[in-house]
Amino acid sequence: MQILKYDIAVLGSGLAGMRASLQAAHYSNGKLRIALISKMHAMRSHSVSAEGGISGVLYPGDNGDSVDLHGFDTAKGGDYLGDQDAIERLVNEAPGEIRFFDHLGVPWNRSEDGRIMLRAFGGMSVPRTAFAADKTGFFMLNALYDNILSFPNIDIFHEHYATHLILKGTRFRAFVTMDLATGERKAFLAKAGIIATGGASRVFGFTTTAYSSTGDGIALAYKAGVPVKDMEFTQFHPTGLIPSGVLITEAARGEGGYLLNSQGRRFMEDYAKSKMELAPRDIVSRAIITEISQGRGFVDETSGLKHVLLDIRHLGESKIDEKLPMIKELVVKTLGFSPVKEPIPVRPAAHHTMGGINVNLNGQVMLDESTAVDGLWAAGECGCVSVHGANRLGSNSLSQCVIWGKIEGEAAAKLAMGDDLMQVEDITERLDSAEGEIDKLLANQGTENPYQLRRELWDTMDEYVYVFRTVTGLEVARKKLQELRERYREIYVSDKGRIFNANLREAIEIGNMIEIAQTIVEGAINRKESRGAHSMVEFPTRDDRNFLKHTLAYRTDGFPRLSYSVVKITKWQPMERKY
Ligand code: FUM
Repeated sequence: MQILKYDIAVLGSGLAGMRASLQAAHYSNGKLRIALISKMHAMRSHSVSAEGGISGVLYPGDNGDSVDLHGFDTAKGGDYLGDQDAIERLVNEAPGEIRFFDHLGVPWNRSEDGRIMLRAFGGMSVPRTAFAADKTGFFMLNALYDNILSFPNIDIFHEHYATHLILKGTRFRAFVTMDLATGERKAFLAKAGIIATGGASRVFGFTTTAYSSTGDGIALAYKAGVPVKDMEFTQFHPTGLIPSGVLITEAARGEGGYLLNSQGRRFMEDYAKSKMELAPRDIVSRAIITEISQGRGFVDETSGLKHVLLDIRHLGESKIDEKLPMIKELVVKTLGFSPVKEPIPVRPAAHHTMGGINVNLNGQVMLDESTAVDGLWAAGECGCVSVHGANRLGSNSLSQCVIWGKIEGEAAAKLAMGDDLMQVEDITERLDSAEGEIDKLLANQGTENPYQLRRELWDTMDEYVYVFRTVTGLEVARKKLQELRERYREIYVSDKGRIFNANLREAIEIGNMIEIAQTIVEGAINRKESRGAHSMVEFPTRDDRNFLKHTLAYRTDGFPRLSYSVVKITKWQPMERKY
């Protein structure tokens, strides 16, 4: 195995990973050696697909907006499961980060007077989402990438897939990766590590996310003994395009689009009279599924998928071209008609992992409530700093990614500037055993086809762990996932080569996804209430007395072991959530 030594190793090159790398480079005045490791080409990280915008109170006082109101909306939107110290940090730092990206050159939409334009998003009391048409993530990632390229001390490793996280006691040591182009195994030893590998919505079949969103970093940490937090809270975005699931941005509704049922009615009136289509996503998703299950949906003839319609025709072509050009192009190219002329078929699709690696307020990885892993942080969607609680508000994720990317990049730089690099002998045995595991998987002569296991995983999650959950359905899923985990031991990787062995990479991803799905289902079964995106038919109300707490899931050879931790309430007391 090739050994590479760095001051800081950042795993993942989306907005959080790139922001962390840039901050570490700035903070150390270009002195620290930083490895930015990506399983794709760095610019293909999933942040590039973020569409609608980034939240932050840029103009306090406008429309009565304030940082405090943003915090309140976020706490309420998350059904009071968010840690409010983290929420306060999010809303306080968001405006500064948007301005930072302004200085990096993001081409925000602007009003006549030159101010950054803001649009409405679900669950936000007033418009406070800055945007660059419907390609915000693309422009933000581009700006970061351009800047990173100007730092000679940041080495970018494209197409390196991480297979192991090596800890020694409570100290971070290394990431083990596979160079996809050559098959070579490489260990990145570093004083500090940051996991920024994104979410795990690909454990569902119908999802807005890329095939790469397989939760690798979450699984790496979990398999290394770190608990994962609040995994039962998967966000279903109301408007996944039929039949692919590709995202139709919430900005389509923010700009004035309607949802219609088969009777031609704006049915949101029955579910959230004051916010209508701009209620939080959990509420809109439940409304859509209720309409469909009560017979007021449509059926797509080719896929058989049931759906409702998103109508943006009344916005007119010029507004659609200015604010939603990608949505128009997407619908024209994939469905063969223009949304200027016809409404768009949509249904809820898995979109965001509200839970993730257990971290503290500073994003440092925690083994339990009080034991930190020295030198290891998790940023962005893979790290549950718990700002989103049980339901994230749209456009708060980009803020979270860049804010905690910055915080963690700086913390890692501070540590790395003072610490000695560990000896390689320290972990040689661990590296050998990591390599041995991959070799064994490759040589395995089992009979299970990984793609068949993935198909069964997707079918199980889509059917039993979707917008509405039942006790019986979750029990079926739990049993099925345990069966898949058993069968995974007999997996057969048919490509035995080294060069771009996607078959091997996907086999590892599928093993990870099965285990992540187990944490989702275990958390869901044990949360006997409905809160935010976790909606149980048998327990339709929120139960603060018994469940105002975070779920922590630890890995075992069988089902995940659960424990619970306290939710931090600072200034917004839990109240009934009405819109
Ligand atoms: O709908 C969207 O544009 C998604 C935004 C988000 O998830 O924050």
